Amino acid sequence: MTISSLPGPDRDEVQAHRGASAIAPENTIAAFRAAAEQGAKWVELDVALSADGELIVIHDDSVDRTSSGKGNLGKLTAAQIATLDGGSWFNSNYAGERIPTLGAVIQALGEFGLNINVEIKQHPHHQSLDQLVNAVHAEITRRPAHMQIMISSFDPECLKAMHRLAPDLELAMLWDRVPDNWEALLAQIPATSIHAHFKGLSIGLLEQTAVKGIKVRAWTSNDPLELVSFWRAGLTGVITDSPEIYLG
Ligand code: G3P
Ligand code: MG
Repeated sequence: MTISSLPGPDRDEVQAHRGASAIAPENTIAAFRAAAEQGAKWVELDVALSADGELIVIHDDSVDRTSSGKGNLGKLTAAQIATLDGGSWFNSNYAGERIPTLGAVIQALGEFGLNINVEIKQHPHHQSLDQLVNAVHAEITRRPAHMQIMISSFDPECLKAMHRLAPDLELAMLWDRVPDNWEALLAQIPATSIHAHFKGLSIGLLEQTAVKGIKVRAWTSNDPLELVSFWRAGLTGVITDSPEIYLG
């Protein structure tokens, strides 16, 4: 369903949250392929380290919810994670879908023509922030030339570390609710974008960020009516489980 008479984002500002995760198992190649089929240009995905320091595309710090296996990422190697079924929990049609590495996803998304918002997750099993951020930086450096990347995180230290490695990358600070001192906090990173829960936004805030040239994207909205009053105030984009809803 598309409500094309409503104001909405540019096509390049619709990001598929964990892929088209309304119809396919989140953070899998199948979900990213479905996002491309729905016309998305960008996907958002989550990354964390396995026990042996590989970057795994997964939201939680354990495989329990989204696979046939059990265990914390800090106790599982990438090879062990690669054996798990990451699709059956969602739907038997996706049996055998894998929990992918970031490297595998970048290769697939290059073929699909998708750009990536890499959300760096900070989990208790991570022993070194630099190890985590360096690994992400090394992986995205190997992306195809046509692929655009942005980095987001709830942890400002991850964004600061990434800025030191790649000062030209777009960095987005993730907040549930945007704090009053958002401008000072962004400047400390420095970051030029805010990704906020749509319930943590206001028209007043968007008018202020627009004046300052700060991009604001709302997550996770699966109903265009939730954001309808925000676009004219300056909302930049949306992160959604159903990109087709926002793509005409
Ligand atoms: O990037 C927006 C959104 O993904 C943040 O929350 O928990 O879905 O990763 P979460
Ligand atoms: Mg995320």
